[in-house]
Parts: sequence; C-alpha cells; structure tokens
Amino acid sequence: METVLIRNVLAADAAGERVCDLFLADGKIVSYGPALKQHADRVIDGTGLAALPGLFDMHVHFRDPGQTHKEDLSTGCAAAIAGGVTGVLCMPNTNPPMDSPAQIAEFLRRAEAEPVEVHQTGCLTVGLKGETLADYAAMKAAGAAALSDDGRPVPTAELMEAALRKAKEAGLPVVSHCEDLAIIDGGIINKGKISEALGVKGMDRASEDQITERDLSLALKTGAQLHICHVSTRGSIDAVRRAKAAGGTVTCETAPHYFLLTEELLLKRDADYRMNPPLRTEDDRQAVIEGIMDGTVDCIITDHAPHTAAEKADFLTAPNGVVGLETSLAAALTAFYHTGMLNLSDIVRLMSSNPRRILHLPERTLEVGQPADIVLVNPREEWTVEPEKLHSRSKNTVFKGMTLRGRVRKVLVGGTVCFEAD
Ligand code: DOR
Ligand code: ZN
Ligand code: ZN
Repeated sequence: METVLIRNVLAADAAGERVCDLFLADGKIVSYGPALKQHADRVIDGTGLAALPGLFDMHVHFRDPGQTHKEDLSTGCAAAIAGGVTGVLCMPNTNPPMDSPAQIAEFLRRAEAEPVEVHQTGCLTVGLKGETLADYAAMKAAGAAALSDDGRPVPTAELMEAALRKAKEAGLPVVSHCEDLAIIDGGIINKGKISEALGVKGMDRASEDQITERDLSLALKTGAQLHICHVSTRGSIDAVRRAKAAGGTVTCETAPHYFLLTEELLLKRDADYRMNPPLRTEDDRQAVIEGIMDGTVDCIITDHAPHTAAEKADFLTAPNGVVGLETSLAAALTAFYHTGMLNLSDIVRLMSSNPRRILHLPERTLEVGQPADIVLVNPREEWTVEPEKLHSRSKNTVFKGMTLRGRVRKVLVGGTVCFEAD
C-alpha cells in the first residue's frame, strides 16, 4: 500500500489546530509533526489547505433500493466523498422501507465495497406506516445504528412513547422527523407572507414545533435517547434548548439551507427550493444560527434528498427535498468560518465528532493511530455551485448558482486518495 506524506497542512480536529506534516501508512496516521523526514511514495503539498477528519453526515437518503433513478448506493457515496463526507447514516424511507434485519444486513453488506463508512437506520414502525413497531433488537443485531421513520412523524404520542421505550431497551437512538401532517394538510412551503403572495397552501410552523415538543417531553419521560431531525424553527430550537437544560438525552441537527437561506427564494416558483421542513423566515434562520453558536444544535447534516429534474419540474406537485452532500462543508465554512463565528475545530465537532458520538461510533481525530480518513480543503477557495457538475445522480441543489467559499480539494479514505477536485 502506498505511503503518503501531506506536507505543511493546517490539521484541525475537535481538539485543536496546528500546522504540521502528516505521514500515512497502512491506512493509518503514523506520525505528525513539523518537517517529517520519512520517505513517502506520494507527497501532497498541503500549503494553504486544511486537513480535517472525514466528515460524518447522519441524515442522507440514498434511494437504494427502490428509487435508484434518483440515487443509488454508489452514486450517493460518490457524492459524499466529493463533499468530504466519509461516513453517512442512511434514512430508511426506501422502497421497500428498511424495517427488517435481512434488508439492513444486505444493504450494509453491499456498502462494504464503497469507500464510505455507511450506516443504516431501521424503521420505527413496520413499513413506515405508523401502526406497529418494528423489531428493534433484531435490526440492531443486523447492524442498524439508529431508528427513524424519517419523512413522517410517528402519528400518536402513545406509539412514540412505546417506540422510545423499546428503543431504549434495544440501546438505539431514535431519530425523529417532527412534522404534524394534520397541520401541514397539503401545504408545500412555509405558511406566511410568501405562501400568501404566491397563493399556495402553507405549512404552519406549529406542525414542526408541536411534534418537537411532544417527542422531547416523551424523551424526558422515558429517558430514551432522542435526536431531532432538521430543526428549522425558532420554536423547535427553543424546545431543544429547554429539554437539554432539563437533563434529557436529546440532541438535534440542522441543515445548511436553514442557516443560509430563507423563504423569499420560493418567489422564484422553483421546486428546487422546496423541502420538508421548508425554508422559513429570517427570524428562524437567526434562531438556528444562535442554536449552533450556543451548542443547542449538535450537528450539521444535509438531509441529502435526491429527486430528478423531471420530478422537480412542477413547482406545485414536485416531491420535497434537496441534495446537499457536495455543498455542506463549503456552506458551513461560508456561514460560520468566514464570518469569524466558528473555527475549523468547531466545524469538525458539528460535522464529524458530534454525529459520531450521537451514534456511539468512535470519534475520528488526526491523532497517530487513527484511520487516515482525511479531507483536504482549501478554506478560502471560492466556487460557484453548478448542478450538472455534481456527482449525485440528482441535481436538485438549493445552492445552484451561488458562490460558496471553501473547496474540497482531495479526500483520502484509509490513506488512499479517493477524490481529487479538477
Ligand atoms: O424534504 C424532504 N425530503 N424531507 C423529508 O423528510 C424526506 C425527504 C425525502 O425523502 O425526499
Ligand atoms: Zn425528515
Ligand atoms: Zn430526511
């Protein structure tokens, strides 16, 4: 196996930042320090680059099996790697839904051939139907890392409480998509001045806030581990903050579109700006940013949700969701690093250490002995997001045409270069 020396790079992990050389052999970080003397088969000049541990996105949809015209395991992993994401947690709303140990074991077996550390959630309810709880212990034995009915809430508090108790027994975190479908009632964008201006049905923010409150109080009652998906409202951020203060084993995530964008984009009547939960108001965006800054928000995820151009063609009837794996690091750097709000170590915590901790996976750092899963990023490089250049099979990016700052240049997995930008 090739040995690699990365020279003069700003190495940043959750512990801190230092300029050094990194020597990689046998898939691991063997040494680091100033001006290493080792001979290497390949030398990478890291001047001007930052080295981060591989990122972990705990909320992606790879559409495999069932909708591989949108994405499949391989194209999803290619998109991940191109974004510096070396570990993912896949949501179970595939076709059929991932509600059995056999499906999960088979998917994880196929994923072994990919350069990405792929984890899978099992369904909370059989067939995502919100009726009967799935067999959590069996899915855990097959390798499931968490449980979710993502795309839908568990419909009643009674069933959610039973799910949380059973998940606690099985030792698995519950990842909850909090939206009350009765309140959404066919709405397609945030309810407010933009939905009124467009004359389309809105989704009231109460749809998110109420289920978030319900699930957090059930987590406090049961002591189960609960992770709230893609938080987008001030109300949800406040609820998570309170539940944490009350001692709950609760965490949450948000996505780049919620801290960079707002509902005004919907005035373009373009379904590429539609997702669940929807883009909200400037006040919500500020609340999400405050949540990231004070630690209420634990992770930045993408909710990478591929849909084809044909499916996205009609503003009113298109399915919800946006791809995100190839833009998330740049989006985070643009919003927080280049504004001086967070340093690279903070970004690593939000995009690698925290999601791994929530899923009870070992932390990745740039210490000696760690797997050499490393992202080399030029934090200052500006680039414009061109959908057709994405590796994902679907091009429904909410950042199309936007200039972001921070470009993934190379990604190494197990010490091997798996991606190089042009
Ligand atoms: O926008 C979304 N898309 N939100 C979800 O919860 C599901 C996802 C999908 O699967 O397309
Ligand atoms: Zn969701
Ligand atoms: Zn999702």
